[in-house]
Amino acid sequence: MNNNTRPIGIFDSGLGGLTVFKELRALLPGEDLIYFGDTARVPYGTKSAEAVLAFSKEIASFLLGKKIKLLVVACNTASSLALEEIRKLSPVPVLGVIGPGVEAALKAVPAGGRVLVTGTSATVNSRAYSRALAESGPGIKVTEKACPLFVPLVEEGWCSKPVAAIVAREYLAPFRGRTDALILGCTHYPLLKKVIAGVMGPRTKIVDSARAAARSARAELAGRGLLNRARRGRSEFVVSDAPDRFSELAFKLLKIQTGKVSVKRF
Ligand code: DGL
Repeated sequence: MNNNTRPIGIFDSGLGGLTVFKELRALLPGEDLIYFGDTARVPYGTKSAEAVLAFSKEIASFLLGKKIKLLVVACNTASSLALEEIRKLSPVPVLGVIGPGVEAALKAVPAGGRVLVTGTSATVNSRAYSRALAESGPGIKVTEKACPLFVPLVEEGWCSKPVAAIVAREYLAPFRGRTDALILGCTHYPLLKKVIAGVMGPRTKIVDSARAAARSARAELAGRGLLNRARRGRSEFVVSDAPDRFSELAFKLLKIQTGKVSVKRF
């Protein structure tokens, strides 16, 4: 197989990485994409660093076995805790979502601005965003806030129910009026963007790390001469459990038609 025509591998703990998938599909219509959702073990955000690392390495090896040309870790939790280890085992470039999210946030705030990072407990406890923001944007004031109920709300398909707004207010109302940019530091959270923006008010910019990651994947492939522009790309979906539910929610939440979803158990 010619290197350009190899697929791109993408993974997340469940549905959230589909926000990255969707952006990638829009930006790179010619690419073949293979998405893996670890639906048997979601959520990652409440698990130990050891567990997230072990799961991420298993999935990376599975996708590398599909002869991919680029691996996108479409999960902030796995990007926070496992990116370096995955890079060590991968012969192809590996992109996470944190670097691109940080870059996009720095473009959105003034010097000395206030950034609120929202994410899973594991991502927030890792301090990966705080470290990356301090390195690339000295002077930026960073606060991190874990929002652990957001992922189950999304996985339940309840993004526009009143309970989503109640939960968002509980977590985020204290930051309204004192935040220049809020990073959606979990790939599930773009699905709650409207609700989150509603709580924060119009003066806070909402930074979508999923979109930023897709742009950086395109730049990475272009830089290496690996873009595939030849035809309409194919999409393949694999999960570790409950393929029908995954397919239903992918359509309900993101209007993605998955076709047949296969199952890979570890
Ligand atoms: N979507 C994932 C993230 O970006 C993880 C959610 C979870 O499994 O807890 O962090």
